[in-house]
Amino acid sequence: MDGNGRWATRRYLPRVAGHKKGMDALRACVRRCGERGVRVLTVFAFSSENWNRPPEEVSSLMELLAMALGREVPQLKGEGVQLHFIGDRRALSDKVRAGLAQAEADTASNERLVFNVCFNYGGRWDIAQAAARLAAEGRPITEHSLDRALGLAHVPDPDLLIRTGGEQRLSNFLLWQAAYSELYFTDKLWPEFDAAALDEAIADYAARERRFGRTPEQVTPRAGRRAA
Ligand code: IPE
Ligand code: MG
Repeated sequence: MDGNGRWATRRYLPRVAGHKKGMDALRACVRRCGERGVRVLTVFAFSSENWNRPPEEVSSLMELLAMALGREVPQLKGEGVQLHFIGDRRALSDKVRAGLAQAEADTASNERLVFNVCFNYGGRWDIAQAAARLAAEGRPITEHSLDRALGLAHVPDPDLLIRTGGEQRLSNFLLWQAAYSELYFTDKLWPEFDAAALDEAIADYAARERRFGRTPEQVTPRAGRRAA
């Protein structure tokens, strides 16, 4: 979800106004995913590197998270959304940590949409914490065991990865899980990414051919040579 700051700056507003608008866009996106039958949505809300921002911006992002926990969770609960927070929680206040755990517990039985919020998350952090955990338990480190020890072990790898805001990089998001994801980049700033923009991204994705290392012929056998 990139571009909140630029959205605000272009309007001569403080950056935090962009983050608030970004929260509105996220609410709409969650709703649209539910309507479209998307089963899993994972968003990058705060990266391990975002601590390097000015302290007042960091604290306003923390406040937004705390506020969202109080305000948004009851609504999400009613909409069948199962919430997960992925990331290093040790840096968060006791109150926020308790709020995250509560939100996860309150929505655990929901099944319509699994909604993962990556907060104080980094792809490298995730791989390292998974490896460290396996090592501490004396378990072998294999592709499979590592995959199962990552923060997103409860969901399949993402089919589609969307980055808004015009940048074409992963910025330490889902490094492991995005191995075969279709990448979609848009110049739209996150606060402008509405239901129609999501539909457009899904339509773009639907037109792609995914081969997972196989040949085009294997993926789409010619008529008459189709395997039974
Ligand atoms: C949102 O966009 C990303 C978050 C850390 C919440 P930015 O804050 O990176 O916005 P830009 O890139 O400065 O426009
Ligand atoms: Mg940015």
